[in-house]
Amino acid sequence: MTGTVVVKLGGSVITDKSESETVDRDALDAAAAALGEADADLVVVHGGGSFGHHYADEHGVTTERGTRDAADALAIHDAMTRLSREVVDALQSAGVPALPVRPLSAGSRNADGDLSLPTDQIRRLLGEGFAPVLHGDVVAHEGEGVTVVSGDELVVEVAPAVDADRVGLCSTVPGVLDGEDAVIDRIGSIDEVADVLGDSDATDVSGGMAGKVRSLLALDAPAQIFGPDALAGFLAGEAPGTTVDGR
Ligand code: IPE
Repeated sequence: MTGTVVVKLGGSVITDKSESETVDRDALDAAAAALGEADADLVVVHGGGSFGHHYADEHGVTTERGTRDAADALAIHDAMTRLSREVVDALQSAGVPALPVRPLSAGSRNADGDLSLPTDQIRRLLGEGFAPVLHGDVVAHEGEGVTVVSGDELVVEVAPAVDADRVGLCSTVPGVLDGEDAVIDRIGSIDEVADVLGDSDATDVSGGMAGKVRSLLALDAPAQIFGPDALAGFLAGEAPGTTVDGR
């Protein structure tokens, strides 16, 4: 499968969430190996897991509630920088030409919380044969200091900018689950899943599956939500887990 693929590695997939700043080495290496086999141009985004979330929770910082304490902001950003380094190293070891791109140095939110992220550098890196690696981070937020930007938000920003052919969210669940915990094969509109996902608040950018699905539905490319075991298949062109396609 060639083309451009944006993949998010969930923080819970690549870290051990029960222990502060602990990489799940086997899971990260397995994901890196799968990405190393991929034929596509890759943009990788990863979440915070036991790195970013630990410090964000400690300092009470969310996607909506910010801090103006520079030391607190740096604690969150530094933890994500350490995790990013682990991810970039694992990817390079697996043959992926990975280079880090730091959202704090580029992105910001306006007073409504809308994210803006310059993407020229990401496109240019891709064009030069690199695989940009972005991560959940803190970004300047008008009226709030800095707030968290989640990996999911970055995926939704970056995918159109790089004209992604496919988008994959690799998480700890095998897909979007229905009321009986079975994986929903395909979602074409938010109405189809309103009863199982609950009310989808458009401002729910961080946690809820409803917000995730809603923002993926707005993309111009099909997105898959799947578990770690399905990453290699996704990269080979299969459609594992739940397909979210609002086109
Ligand atoms: C959170 O990113 C980043 C920080 C807390 C700084 P995500 O919200 O995408 O992380 P995961 O995937 O849920 O761990």
